[in-house]
Amino acid sequence: MKKILIVLAFTALHIAAKEVTFTEHVAPIIFQNCTSCHRPGESGPFKLMDYNDVSKRGKLIARVTEDRVMPPWHAQKGSFKFHGDRSLSDAQITTISKWVEADMPEGDPSKLPTMPRFVTGWQLGKPDLVVKMTEPFPVPADGRDIYRSFVVPLDLPKDKWLKAIEFRPDARTVVHHCLFSYDTTGEARRLDKRERSPGFRRMRRQGSGIGQLGGWAAGGQPNKLPEDLAWRLPRNADLVLAMHYHPSGKPEKDQSSVGLYFTDQPPKTAFTGVQLPPVFGALSGVDIPAGEKAFAIRDSFTLPINVEAFAVSAHAHYLGKKLSMSATLPNGKQLNLLNIPDWDFSWQEQYHFEEFISLPKGTKLESTVVWDNSSSNPNNPSVPPKRVRWGPESEDEMGSLTLLCRPAEGEKFSTLTSLYRKHISETGVRTARQRAGRIREDNLDDRLNAFFKRTDRNGNGKIEINEAPSWMKASFDRSDTNRDKTLDFGELKAATERLRNRNR
Ligand code: HEC
Repeated sequence: MKKILIVLAFTALHIAAKEVTFTEHVAPIIFQNCTSCHRPGESGPFKLMDYNDVSKRGKLIARVTEDRVMPPWHAQKGSFKFHGDRSLSDAQITTISKWVEADMPEGDPSKLPTMPRFVTGWQLGKPDLVVKMTEPFPVPADGRDIYRSFVVPLDLPKDKWLKAIEFRPDARTVVHHCLFSYDTTGEARRLDKRERSPGFRRMRRQGSGIGQLGGWAAGGQPNKLPEDLAWRLPRNADLVLAMHYHPSGKPEKDQSSVGLYFTDQPPKTAFTGVQLPPVFGALSGVDIPAGEKAFAIRDSFTLPINVEAFAVSAHAHYLGKKLSMSATLPNGKQLNLLNIPDWDFSWQEQYHFEEFISLPKGTKLESTVVWDNSSSNPNNPSVPPKRVRWGPESEDEMGSLTLLCRPAEGEKFSTLTSLYRKHISETGVRTARQRAGRIREDNLDDRLNAFFKRTDRNGNGKIEINEAPSWMKASFDRSDTNRDKTLDFGELKAATERLRNRNR
């Protein structure tokens, strides 16, 4: 009986393995999760559209799906579902690897699912207005990263409500990100005219007449703002595209375009981003020693009003390793808003929640950014690793998480924005204090060293009681923690520390 069971079980397994075919099991996974990028004209480096395409790279596909490198989706499952989650289930990953192990049978052609109808070109549908950089910008083969802004006249006769901007990179291999803003002051045009090559370095003015409109980064999917939210785009405003180019080893010319999506519906509320730490970490003392495996910066902010969050994103450069944001509700409940355990510079996604999340007043938002500047980080651009500080180049570092939210009904938006502005300035002050504190500590060590050398007259590395000055004799026994009737440097330092703490 037992034997029969084993034989049966074996046969079942055998059939299960045999049954995994391309047409019936693998094609649906590939068509749904891979082909949107792996087809002509999209970002994937080759097409995955039929049996040939997929079986040719079967082993590689099994590996990249098992390692969760593909499809690119770096957020772990958290407390809330994300819109457009691309990650594969464990069962889907197993199906692919079983199929590859079984030598990739094609299966019954009649079972092949029809290819989904992919949108070619604009992902959000036909834009209401398409504009393009006015001339191509040459990106050299190598050299430093290039930050360049371009002004694109829109000539809108009246104010518009904007739901989305979709960015279509032209020279995909070098366009790393683009931030959108509008300018009604004419500043962008003036700066552009002053320089001979296309574009200009950057907008210097901020504030009245200039507004931010989000951005795009490599790997990001475009999203419309949810429900009744919209950006105001004033009439006669120019669009400013602040581009970041990363040379690819080949000279390129870029003339990217953007599609604008309008709505007639004015928004019910304003919205804002709570970025922790603020200014992409510029004020938080990002200074990562060479070889440091886990340099961490944490920040937190307690919400002063009830809000509704709709998206979260993370930003870091090559050394970023783990980025996460959580929320602790006033009742103590912990929510995981975003957790990226294995950061990848190439995929800077904005994660939109499927539904608005209510976060009550008193919720503590906490973010953690961890960088790995060791040689075991395969993405480290420096071999051997070198000290890295905050800065705009790809080889500098940045790091922060941003939660996009609107005030809940009846709440005052300005209470949130003014408290957040206070948080920004406090972050700068705290870092400056910490720095000063560290310098004092360093000096303390130097001063103690000099004192120790002076006092240790016989130079045996210890202070005997007869060497000690009289003020020190009073507490000599208490300081001599190992009771050998002498004070070594450690004992002297501990005693001094004790004194300092008492004096605080
Ligand atoms: C959002 C777009 C996107 C989706 C979805 C996507 N890919 Fe990719 N894929 C890319 C891009 C871009 C690259 C090249 C850059 C890179 O390797 O990171 C790539 C590279 C690859 C590679 C080559 C990796 C290597 O190491 O050479 C394989 C294999 C691959 N993808 C398979 C898949 C499979 C299988 C799926 C679906 C399960 C998938 N991709 C889904 C965009 C995508």
